[in-house]
Amino acid sequence: MKAIEIRNKYINFFKAHGHKVIPSAPLIPENDPSVLFTTAGMQPLVPYLLGEKHPAGKRITDYQKCLRTNDIDEVGDNRHLTFFEMLGNWSLGDYFKEEAISMSYEFLTKELGIDPAKLSVTCFAGDEDAPKDIVAANAWKKAGIPEERIYFYGKDNNWWIAGEEGPCGPDTEMFLDTGKPACSKECQPSCNCGKYVEIWNDVFMEYYKSKDGSITKLKQQNVDTGFGLERMTMLLQGKETPFDTELFSPVMEKLKELAKQDNIESRRIVAEHLRSSMMIIADGGRPSNIDRGYVLRKLIRRMTRHLNKLQIDLNELEKLIDLYVDTLKELYPELEQNKNTIKEVIITEKNKFIKTLLHGEKEFEKVVAKLKKENKDVIDGYTIFKLYETYGFPPEITSDLAREQGFKIETSEFDKLFKEHQEKSRHGSEQKFKGGLAEQNEQTIKYHTATHLLHKALKIVLGEHTNQCGSNITTERLRFDFTHSEKMTPEQLAKVEEIVNEQIKKDLPVTCEEMTLEEAKAQGATGLFENKYGENVKVYTIGDFSKEICGGPHVKHTAELGHFKIKKEESSSAGVRRIKAILE
Ligand code: SER
Repeated sequence: MKAIEIRNKYINFFKAHGHKVIPSAPLIPENDPSVLFTTAGMQPLVPYLLGEKHPAGKRITDYQKCLRTNDIDEVGDNRHLTFFEMLGNWSLGDYFKEEAISMSYEFLTKELGIDPAKLSVTCFAGDEDAPKDIVAANAWKKAGIPEERIYFYGKDNNWWIAGEEGPCGPDTEMFLDTGKPACSKECQPSCNCGKYVEIWNDVFMEYYKSKDGSITKLKQQNVDTGFGLERMTMLLQGKETPFDTELFSPVMEKLKELAKQDNIESRRIVAEHLRSSMMIIADGGRPSNIDRGYVLRKLIRRMTRHLNKLQIDLNELEKLIDLYVDTLKELYPELEQNKNTIKEVIITEKNKFIKTLLHGEKEFEKVVAKLKKENKDVIDGYTIFKLYETYGFPPEITSDLAREQGFKIETSEFDKLFKEHQEKSRHGSEQKFKGGLAEQNEQTIKYHTATHLLHKALKIVLGEHTNQCGSNITTERLRFDFTHSEKMTPEQLAKVEEIVNEQIKKDLPVTCEEMTLEEAKAQGATGLFENKYGENVKVYTIGDFSKEICGGPHVKHTAELGHFKIKKEESSSAGVRRIKAILE
């Protein structure tokens, strides 16, 4: 079964079980300062898990593009991926454990044809926060899983939360027995030997974990499930790695053909990082020295180095991108739509990096020669840092090279120096997934409404071409990226501030209506992330001033905002300006 068939089967199955299909949200989350990328299907749905009404209803299904970079250094082995697709179904205060489990079982055994004898499941063992999940276990028994293949584990295995704070709850995970021999008598799903592979996770989100660690019940009982497409494709096809499936194999084979010095790890890294980079770029990401831009930069650089290591002519990159677009366009039509931009961004970045790479590699070889002479096998942090500071050689590349050549690396000093350097140059490193997605307090809600006012004011002052292309809100400020090519003049900035403050003074009512996307468009609502929305959308109207398609929430009256002040206007990337503003 091909990946596309698995995806279609999944979506159709849940559609037939009363779920509305919503499109994948972009990889780059909107209005969510706590994460760099969408890392789970539930992430764009957090407000609805907390009780906001979703325009599509209480039963939802989708396929969500996700990117996780925690294990980026592991890519090259037989399983780690940064970009992946997560299929999911949600109950937003509708069905709960029994129905979720019965549907999961039916889908796996009837739709995918998995032999029930190969399935094992795990349930939450219970602790002071929540009871042993007998309800889930009984639902599994009723569905057809015998008791001896139902395991109970604690929070480490069977509790799911995105980060430290937010909606959470016990989960039940499904495992497929690959048929490999058991590694020991104790071998069971929690073991990492590879006999059992997790294929699906049903999370029963009825709790909320606060910053102080306390766990309380949510208003409603939700179900959040996540099913990895690449992994399921690999298992159903009886392949050893995702790179052997049709998602990667045409590119893997092409790389093999082009390589003058083949090695499989490098080919996997190139194939994996190229795919992730293309997906990020198609969703509007661009390389830079901070945050998500830096993740993209890292991916392109590592890919470039491994192409080089394979001794593949870098001019082949364009053809490799063409091949990938052809390979994946049915699953991700946005790749074809953005093909030229993808090529331009990747090739420009590769060109910028190649000199540094070649130069840095030479310097690295000198370091290696010296260490060998001295009979040392550790590269100290200071050396890694110097290569970075003096030659711009990225630390992750030095670490990669060191590992490959059998050197240990002493990272503590490096980490310290690098951190100091980053703080000095204000280069934020990649934020960890901190959770707090749900950070929806009074202040962020105000900033959200202020963002709508700012957006409209910019259109009035600069023109209709001024479109939102990024928004980031914290409790301290709003940050808004928009398409406009010149620096704004002080007069323009003053005018924008004045217009926004006028609307605040008028104390305009903020109202919300649900309608179809077509109706919203007909009413002239601004909707910039249209592909994210399903048939029914929420439209927020601020007096007679602004109308935007938006998930909310917002304040009720604009006077709640106080005084609006622009602190900074700067370039964000080519053709994109950025405003930082506060409410006083
Ligand atoms: N949120 C859960 C996960 O990411 C299930 O979707 O595994």
